[in-house]
Amino acid sequence: MKKIAIIEKIHSDGLEIIDKHPDYEYELINDVSKENLIKKLPDYDACTLRVSKLNENILKHCPKLKVISRHGVGFDNVDLNYIKKNNISLLITATANAVAVAEHVIYMMLTISKSINKYDSEVRKGNFKKNASNIETLELFKKEILIVGFGRIGKSLIKRCLGFEMKVNVYDPFVSNDIISKFGGNKIDNLSDGLKSCDYLSLHIPLTEKTKNMIDSSKLSSMKKNAIIINSSRGGIINEIDLNNALNKNIIFGAGLDVFEQEPVNKDNPLLKNNKVILSPHSATFTNECKSRMSIETTKNIIDFFNNKLDKSMIVKL
Ligand SMILES: NC(=O)c1ccc[n+]([C@@H]2O[C@H](COP(=O)([O-])OP(=O)(O)OC[C@H]3O[C@@H](n4cnc5c(N)ncnc54)[C@H](O)[C@@H]3O)[C@@H](O)[C@H]2O)c1
Repeated sequence: MKKIAIIEKIHSDGLEIIDKHPDYEYELINDVSKENLIKKLPDYDACTLRVSKLNENILKHCPKLKVISRHGVGFDNVDLNYIKKNNISLLITATANAVAVAEHVIYMMLTISKSINKYDSEVRKGNFKKNASNIETLELFKKEILIVGFGRIGKSLIKRCLGFEMKVNVYDPFVSNDIISKFGGNKIDNLSDGLKSCDYLSLHIPLTEKTKNMIDSSKLSSMKKNAIIINSSRGGIINEIDLNNALNKNIIFGAGLDVFEQEPVNKDNPLLKNNKVILSPHSATFTNECKSRMSIETTKNIIDFFNNKLDKSMIVKL
């Protein structure tokens, strides 16, 4: 019997996959304090993982653990050095969430461009047409978007942008010109050039030492006044203080953030009071459909792992 720890609740569709396999059992662990994880995890052969951190202090107590199955694709909450040294595999839900994130980006682009929040509030206040013509709104049609990072989500986003007849530039030094043009995009070799000309910027890269603060005050000041920035990748890639200043000084038009340097977002973060930015609580993948797909892929990956049937795209190369 293999034992799976479900660290933090997942959609029931994923748990039903385990129920169908009599050789596997699971326990839901809702208390993700370090003390509780150290107490519980040593019993398990595998675990699923949402946003809790698994570092060496916890993992060194888990001699049976063979595999960590992320409910998602990012893995900056796992101690990669430790799991590599100790031969623990790390899996991701590689095919489950790109569409949901790409749709979230389009929702943010449209919400900001169409000033939806302002119109909504005017109608509710009884100002049906009073201020409507003073509210500035924009179209996506024929506008230029720069997609930074052309992996699973970047590739899903480009299809949606082309549907709006946008011009799509892509900055990803690790993806060839051929692949980008096959998807209908234009490869940009120099990030600064792409930033100067884009109307929309959407980030789809991991947070690393190289990408931290990639978008700072100097980059922001090179952008167009009407530019709109969306970050649904990881907080810290855009410098939040610089972004807040750029919005306040009308250096750019607006921003949409699903991710933050500190999560949950600090209540003193000045962006919370800035009405030129729209915010969501790292919820791009929280559609009903995506929650179901992710939970199924998370638990199926563990079973496929032990049966040597795992699709290679689900394995993080360490
Ligand atoms: N908001 C959410 O809920 C949510 C959900 C899923 C993924 N994410 C985040 O979105 C990001 C992208 O996810 P993905 O599944 O598309 O990842 P992916 O690994 O498929 O693609 C990442 C791409 O970034 C490129 N890249 C790496 N460093 C770069 C750099 N310095 N400059 C330009 N390109 C660079 C890589 O070549 C790769 O093509 C990740 O950070 C992930 O954690 C967020």
